[in-house]
Amino acid sequence: MAISAPDFDFIRKLIHERSAIVIEPGKEYLVEARLQPLAQREGFPSIQELVAKLRSDRFNCLHQKVVDAMTTNETSFFRDVHPFETMRKIIVPEIMAKRAGLRELNVWCGASSSGQEPYTIAMLLRENFPELAKWKVVFMASDISQEMLTRSRNGMYSQLEINRGLPAAYLVKYFQRVGMEWQIKEDLRKTIDFREINLCGAWPHIPKLDIIFMRNVLIYFDVNTKKTILGKIRQLLKPDGYLFLGAAETTLNLDDNFTRMNFPQSGCYRLKDN
Ligand SMILES: C[S@@+](CC[C@H](N)C(=O)[O-])C[C@H]1O[C@@H](n2cnc3c(N)ncnc32)[C@H](O)[C@@H]1O
Repeated sequence: MAISAPDFDFIRKLIHERSAIVIEPGKEYLVEARLQPLAQREGFPSIQELVAKLRSDRFNCLHQKVVDAMTTNETSFFRDVHPFETMRKIIVPEIMAKRAGLRELNVWCGASSSGQEPYTIAMLLRENFPELAKWKVVFMASDISQEMLTRSRNGMYSQLEINRGLPAAYLVKYFQRVGMEWQIKEDLRKTIDFREINLCGAWPHIPKLDIIFMRNVLIYFDVNTKKTILGKIRQLLKPDGYLFLGAAETTLNLDDNFTRMNFPQSGCYRLKDN
């Protein structure tokens, strides 16, 4: 049965309040497609009964599961390729040269979904910059979805996910076979601190960062939320640090303290006046 207009509205408001994600009118099909399997798993005969339960209770883990179900978790290893080439060729060498005395590197991957993005960065660093083994590297990755964070911490991927962008040499070196799946080896897994952070809520204390990946998430938010998040990023980024946004995202008309770097197809920004 199709979702009713009041139920659709209730879900839209819930998602916006909790995650800042905007679900446009006309996206009823999306809500139905995402909530139908959840309703079934949770033992509700239909979406209508699921929404009735949500309405009658205060925010609890069922509401959280609905938020999880409505987030888009699309990701892959080495997604878009170019940002990682820019990291390898330009950004990491530059930052390492500047921090050679300090020997500290702080990286944050916000909205890290099922973990392919932060693991891509971790493999890239391990593969190309072995001297970082002697540095203090703080690497944090975060997402709003507990389900995605559990997946990320396990570092377990299907053959299909592996086939989407992971070079064979990396598979051999950094993964082990577990049944039908592939798991990131423990010594790489433990280099990343996976945490739950709602980008539109209060952020925990985060040390000043050299590199921030915040890709393919701003796109889901309204303009004010984007501005607030970019403002917070500005406070966290070191004056000579770099921010990576997704291919369809920009700071333009949102925050003019950032300048876009001229690195091909990388969505790379830094703060002005440096
Ligand atoms: C499309 S994925 C992007 C994954 C990865 N950054 C990439 O580019 O491949 C978007 C992620 O943003 C997360 N997300 C959505 N709203 C969020 C919020 N308010 N706070 C933190 N993460 C959020 C979703 O759970 C999802 O994992």
